[in-house]
Amino acid sequence: MIGILYFSSTGNSLYIAQKIQSKMGGQIKYIPNYKGNGNEFEKIILVTPIYSYGMPTFVYNIIPRLNKTTELIIIQNYGGMVGGADYYIYQYAKENELNIKAVYVIKMPENFTLTFTVPKFYVNRTLKNADKRIDNVIASIVSGYYKVPKKSKTKIDIYLKNKSNWHLIGEDFSTTNACTTCGKCVSICPVNNISLQNGKIEFSNKCVACLGCYHRCPQKAIVYKGKSKKDRYINHNVIESDIGKNF
Ligand SMILES: Cc1cc2nc3c(=O)[nH]c(=O)nc-3n(C[C@H](O)[C@H](O)[C@H](O)COP(=O)(O)O)c2cc1C
Ligand code: SF4
Ligand code: SF4
Repeated sequence: MIGILYFSSTGNSLYIAQKIQSKMGGQIKYIPNYKGNGNEFEKIILVTPIYSYGMPTFVYNIIPRLNKTTELIIIQNYGGMVGGADYYIYQYAKENELNIKAVYVIKMPENFTLTFTVPKFYVNRTLKNADKRIDNVIASIVSGYYKVPKKSKTKIDIYLKNKSNWHLIGEDFSTTNACTTCGKCVSICPVNNISLQNGKIEFSNKCVACLGCYHRCPQKAIVYKGKSKKDRYINHNVIESDIGKNF
């Protein structure tokens, strides 16, 4: 049985995970809730977004505890620039003595859109192009013709610096009057960084910068640095409430 471990805040990684499952079978597990080390699976396919040319905190944290003998394949998806993320994650898996076989990268719509807007036509074109790429990656995995990333010149400093500052982003979030105190952001935050206090949403200092709350608030009531930006992104090929579930 294949284990498809994923982290996703706006659905791109879940979409890839679900396509893999539809072609290869296996179980899909959401990394923040997964307590195992993968030894119940014959192969692990880890699907993750790229964050700051590196990896989300949850992915960074799970790699050292994965079973060292289980075959590991990593699929990273990104909005614009890989940097050296594919080589870095490969090296990180090697340093942790994992049985890493391949790393693939797939371009998906950008979700780090706090300060700029991606035109809708470009989002749709990216999703269309991604389908072909996902099929090719799956075919490569099925055939066992694996892809190992080339050495990158990109320095990892920017990743480590950004990663160490992600907890600060909560300071820049606030809610507008559109907030209905529905509690959705409280329940979807993977690190319990959001709470409802005296009828008001409060952000604490444990944020991992996933932007799930920002994009998935039904009222678009969470804003960054007080901006009145209205565009939000959720991959329309997935059921939004499925993000964070196991299958
Ligand atoms: C904190 C953060 C950092 C990001 N850094 C990068 C990056 O360095 N390069 C890039 O191309 N995309 C970057 N992205 C965009 C995501 O990798 C991309 O949109 C991904 O497909 C989102 O996957 P998801 O929908 O499964 O969460 C970043 C997104 C976030 C939230
Ligand atoms: S999800 Fe949006 S509307 Fe609901 S409590 Fe959070 S900020 Fe308010
Ligand atoms: S506060 Fe928002 S951006 Fe930060 S970890 Fe929670 S859901 Fe993600």
